[in-house]
Amino acid sequence: MRAVVLTTYGPPSQLSVQEIPPPQLKPGHVRLRVHAVGFGFPDALMVAGKYQIKPEAPYTPGNETAGVVTEVAPDVHSVKPGARVLAMAGQGGLAEQCVASAESLIPLPDSMSMAAAAGFLVNYGTTYHALVQRAQLKAGETLLVLGAAGGVGLTAVEIGKAIGARVLAAASTDEKLELAKRHGADAAFNYTRDTIKAKVMEFTGDRGIDVAYDPVGADYAEQVVRSMAWNGRYLVIGFAGGKIPAIPLNLPLLKGCSLVGVFWGAHVRREPQVHAANLKALFALFESGKINPYVTELDGLERFTEALDVLNGRRSQGKVVIRVAAGEG
Ligand SMILES: NC(=O)c1ccc[n+]([C@@H]2O[C@H](COP(=O)([O-])OP(=O)(O)OC[C@H]3O[C@@H](n4cnc5c(N)ncnc54)[C@H](OP(=O)(O)O)[C@@H]3O)[C@@H](O)[C@H]2O)c1
Repeated sequence: MRAVVLTTYGPPSQLSVQEIPPPQLKPGHVRLRVHAVGFGFPDALMVAGKYQIKPEAPYTPGNETAGVVTEVAPDVHSVKPGARVLAMAGQGGLAEQCVASAESLIPLPDSMSMAAAAGFLVNYGTTYHALVQRAQLKAGETLLVLGAAGGVGLTAVEIGKAIGARVLAAASTDEKLELAKRHGADAAFNYTRDTIKAKVMEFTGDRGIDVAYDPVGADYAEQVVRSMAWNGRYLVIGFAGGKIPAIPLNLPLLKGCSLVGVFWGAHVRREPQVHAANLKALFALFESGKINPYVTELDGLERFTEALDVLNGRRSQGKVVIRVAAGEG
């Protein structure tokens, strides 16, 4: 079968499409015909060897894998061949076939395309956990989203609106601001041109922002904390800007606000029942049309280098998804 293989850690040139033997089916596992694979900033960090998880090379990257089950191990009774599923494969997704644990499978509604499914779980799951459990965002509150057209950012705009918040989107280009508005943002500004605090005060009538969702970090973070409302919650999501910010701790003291960490992967392991309830709520929001996954779709395994360029070059809009097999299945 054809698969993307990372030979050694280093620049993207260390990855190539190769002909390799299909993976062996193991007890408790299923085989998928892969249709689409979601690729986010954490995946880009992982193949660069800069993530907390560093699989032994050579290996095939690809975690969020949408496809059709073609074979199940004899001890698997929870799913049958022909099922459309999303697998959290960990690795191995960027290939024509993938073997994944039956426990990791999420059945897909017929109305969800393979591309939307491949971009769904990590981004919407992270944001739902962040806004609902960590920030306890309420209808009528204000929400600032940085990187608002990126993978997790766009989901924060949508879920914030679905909760009933007033959403202020910040991004680096006019095209990205338009995308955030199309997905529900009430107002938007370019944070590479405008001052964050001035725009927040204009949006909130000088109250400050109730909840800030920050997947970017860098020099923006301190400006955001300086823009928080009393009892505000600043969500630490990630550091796509490249620098982990150091926030002066007098700021949360003076603002009476909280800095709140979000680690979705650990939440899934530590709070499986809450995660299951979140997932149910997210599929209900999808079925009701309140969230509408937006993906940048790249056709063919060869285009994984383009996916890396898009993510590393600050050009992502929604989730980057690599289409492996033609047709929907
Ligand atoms: N805490 C968690 O559990 C969790 C879960 C998933 C992801 N994350 C983290 O969230 C962050 C975003 O992930 P993602 O998959 O949404 O990434 P993404 O699609 O690439 O979005 C990141 C956004 O960051 C902005 N950005 C600013 N400076 C950048 C730079 N130098 N390079 C790239 N982007 C830059 C870009 O928006 P503008 O151009 O508009 O500024 C971009 O759209 C990552 O740090 C990731 O590790 C955390």
